[in-house]
Amino acid sequence: MNAPQDYFKYLKGEIYCEGVAISKIVKSVGTPVYVYSQKAFVDRFISLKKALKPLNPLICFAVKSNSNLAILSLLGRQGAGMDIVSGGELLRARKAGVPASKIIFSGVGKSHDEITQALKVGVHAFNCESAQEVARIATIATQLKRKAKIGLRFNPDIDAKTHPFISTGKEENKFGLQKSEIESVFKEFANHPGLEISGLSIHIGSQILDLSPLRESFQKLIALREWVHQNTPAKILHLDIGGGLGIQYQSESPIEVDAYAKSVVEAFLPLKNADRRFKLSLEPGRFIAGNAGILVSRIEYRKTRAARDFLVIDAGMNDLLRPALYEARHRLVPLLASQNEGTTRPTDIVGPVCESSDCFESRAQISPALDAGDYVALLSAGAYGFSMASNYNSRPRPAEVLIHKKSYRVIRKRETLADLIRGEKR
Ligand code: LLP
Repeated sequence: MNAPQDYFKYLKGEIYCEGVAISKIVKSVGTPVYVYSQKAFVDRFISLKKALKPLNPLICFAVKSNSNLAILSLLGRQGAGMDIVSGGELLRARKAGVPASKIIFSGVGKSHDEITQALKVGVHAFNCESAQEVARIATIATQLKRKAKIGLRFNPDIDAKTHPFISTGKEENKFGLQKSEIESVFKEFANHPGLEISGLSIHIGSQILDLSPLRESFQKLIALREWVHQNTPAKILHLDIGGGLGIQYQSESPIEVDAYAKSVVEAFLPLKNADRRFKLSLEPGRFIAGNAGILVSRIEYRKTRAARDFLVIDAGMNDLLRPALYEARHRLVPLLASQNEGTTRPTDIVGPVCESSDCFESRAQISPALDAGDYVALLSAGAYGFSMASNYNSRPRPAEVLIHKKSYRVIRKRETLADLIRGEKR
């Protein structure tokens, strides 16, 4: 189970992560603050790697889920590759020391400059999402006298049964190429000297809790590869099965890593046995990062009303956007265990931003003992937390802290007011 409190638990009356009391970090770094467990990142990555051992895949961490250099470098040292979607993420992956040969460039709108930058450093492959993108890469590769390795992202028209905003594999979604479009890409570019079209990829959505759409997507990918082999001169040696594995936020039952791995191995091991050059890659983000981090916040005010109370905390939707954007619910816990006890009152936990959607919990049953000056943690905030944070309402973005055993270090300083206006002119 990939659950919120696996690495952030009550010990001696308060929340600890590894050997560090979160209250200690709050005292020295302030709030809001993202706190991560090094062990959680490593354990999750290794669990996936071990479960998929028969295939020895390239596991590319989805940088968009958590792009802090310390996290990328930590995972890079464990052997992870990186799945990137922008020139900025390429810069981060390289600065973190990840070799270009382990970087896959995904994304629906790669610019001319981003493609140039990626070709120059020699990324492993581009996962392409349109015929025009393939043409653009071909032109730039020819100019630079490079050969670009291409994986075509297939849109298999599968419902991943997740929130519509994070569903990517249906025909109506902007992502990927339909089979007919893949056919014409092969017709036009199969023999282009600047390209080697040797891969196919899929990614049908995120926070997927049901294995069957994933299984179906594997079968469709394998069938497409077969079709390519029968109808074009291309040889597909590289399949990329994307990310998407869901985690527990509240009471969901996520797919167990062994069950996921079993279906991956069953589907793809025969391909590897038939041709040892065959290579599988995957692009997990949330599975590795989601439950490796929390967002800690201080309560600024309590408003007591007849129907419900409000706790106004110092973290807002600019710090953690998921509740406002996807109606996501992160488990909220007080740092002190004693504040879970006794009676409760229906309470909304809200942020300071001037939007009604700046709300983390609605009518949660919360102890009236929790009051201004106390601290709470929003769990499962390690993925798509800080990486989606913004400066809305001109709020500096929070600090990030990484715990390792009994020590911790700030891996991103809290932004200052000066950071907020850098580059602006009056
Ligand atoms: N590969 C591609 C091409 C992707 O677009 C994504 C995520 C991933 C891999 C990683 O997916 P994961 O394993 O993390 O599910 N901001 C949203 C999630 C957006 C996901 C976008 N693509 C959220 O907070 O739920």
